[in-house]
Amino acid sequence: MHLTEQEKEMLNGAKGNAVKKSMEILVALGEIYGAKKLIDVTSVQIAGVSYDNLGDAGLEFLSEMAKDGKTKVLTTLNPAGMDMENYATLGISEEFAIKQKLVIEAFTKMGVIPTCTCTPYLIGNNPHYGENIAWSESSAVAYANSVLGAKTNREGGPSALASALTGKTPEYGMHLDENRNAKIKIKVECEIKGTHEFGALGKVIGEKVKSKPTYIAGIKKATIEELKSFSASIATYGGAAIFHMEGITPNKTPIPNEEIIITKNEIEKAIKEMRMDDCEIDFISVGCPHASINEIAKLAELLTGKKVTKEFWITTARPTKKIADSAGYTKIIENAGAKFAADTCCVVAPIKGRFKCLATDSAKGCYYAYSKNQSKTKILPLEKLVEEACE
Ligand code: F3S
Repeated sequence: MHLTEQEKEMLNGAKGNAVKKSMEILVALGEIYGAKKLIDVTSVQIAGVSYDNLGDAGLEFLSEMAKDGKTKVLTTLNPAGMDMENYATLGISEEFAIKQKLVIEAFTKMGVIPTCTCTPYLIGNNPHYGENIAWSESSAVAYANSVLGAKTNREGGPSALASALTGKTPEYGMHLDENRNAKIKIKVECEIKGTHEFGALGKVIGEKVKSKPTYIAGIKKATIEELKSFSASIATYGGAAIFHMEGITPNKTPIPNEEIIITKNEIEKAIKEMRMDDCEIDFISVGCPHASINEIAKLAELLTGKKVTKEFWITTARPTKKIADSAGYTKIIENAGAKFAADTCCVVAPIKGRFKCLATDSAKGCYYAYSKNQSKTKILPLEKLVEEACE
């Protein structure tokens, strides 16, 4: 891989140990994937923030990088394992909290903004069409490539950090236009409505096409919330980093000849798989990916004057929560007994074994609740979730 003189200096350690280590990671990646050179990035988003996933080895690596590493571009963080302010109310132990705070401190020391959200595009890390970026949260990667038209591979935590500390990434994969073109066409022959149905559609398509870029026709309209749910689901169930939705997403692509038809039956079947029998709901969570202010406003409207009788979390970015505070939504929601879990989510928080049946509107949430936390699931639209919570 060709390196400029300045990049060679970075690799040789002239710019410090963290930059040297970062360049080693990026050059190794570039060589594995056949990149010809490094390119500049304008934005980074780092996953692998929860101490539940990182453990002591991950914390040690971050502390080492934080000795002399400093971010070169706007860099934000994926959710942590807990609400950084309100963790005790959510049942997180002090022992876990101490370690999680050390993780966030290491990132902050390097200049990473501790946003702790998987929807950076809702709170200011919002690259525009054509920008090269290095993001690692899979739902945000699919959203950035497809809905924003920015260009990013699905980075691992260490490679995203390496990009943050150097402002570089190897040029391969999603950074090359030819790899972004659709390989298969999907025709959706039914109306898709609501975050839960868009999540079910992502599951159906993801399971059929795996990680192939798809061209999706037949969707008449989609809100930002529906697109974030779809992005999370297609990435989870298939691994896609990009999709094209006719009339909705901005990228140009040749339309493939091979076509798969999707009908209402398949959407219903997917919903049935995520709406398990023999599942007595004991936990409700909204905000996977992190809730937008629009979703929180809707929840406040639905919860006005009601009382929830089950554990109910709304997971969101702290800046979004602050808007909810000033708009009066938080008060309504908390008066109803639901809880905000900012900075975290029901998948990365250490809650395995605490709940037996999760109700959510998120297909991605269902996947991980079942596979990671061994909880049964019931996917439902937002209105139904509130009804269930207040029963
Ligand atoms: Fe975000 Fe957690 Fe879902 S990171 S996409 S809320 S699993």
